Amino acid sequence: MALLQVAKLGDPILRQKAELVDLEFLNSQDNKMQALIDDMIETMREEDGVGLAAPQVFQSLRLVVIECSLNERYSEAPNIPLTILINPSIKYYGEDTVSGWEGCLSLKDLRGLVPRSSKIIVEYFDRKGDPVTVNAEGFLAVVLQHEIDHLDGKVFLDRMTDLSQLAYVEEFEKYIADKKTLEAESP
Ligand code: NI
Repeated sequence: MALLQVAKLGDPILRQKAELVDLEFLNSQDNKMQALIDDMIETMREEDGVGLAAPQVFQSLRLVVIECSLNERYSEAPNIPLTILINPSIKYYGEDTVSGWEGCLSLKDLRGLVPRSSKIIVEYFDRKGDPVTVNAEGFLAVVLQHEIDHLDGKVFLDRMTDLSQLAYVEEFEKYIADKKTLEAESP
């Protein structure tokens, strides 16, 4: 396993539409895809992120890892078990939106208030190549929308509707974090 370098905003890789993963590579002899998945998990944990998309580690592939347990960057966030999503696609967006404060390892010092669908249905393949459908709501729905956006060259800034609600982490903690639960339904 190895820690991977994380692409920062401005790097063109973050603005590319990522390629579909060929599911045959998941179980191929050389195991490169499985090694990439393991490295992404290790990197996400080391960087204290709740999700990481392959373009963020310079691989233009439709592959995402998510996990949230006792996260320091998002201390109030609910638990999300480790999940590997290959070729994820959002099949349904609920009508209701929630606005929550988001961060991103590619824009590490920033937090922004982002409106997202409160409920989505996502289809993907797990790391063995088996198809999975998930009905996601709340924090999980937000994390999935954020990560799947990375596969289409989008970052959370692109989804913000009010750029006055963008802050550096330090100032966010100082001026906004205490009242954020009043303003936003999701962390
Ligand atoms: Ni991100």
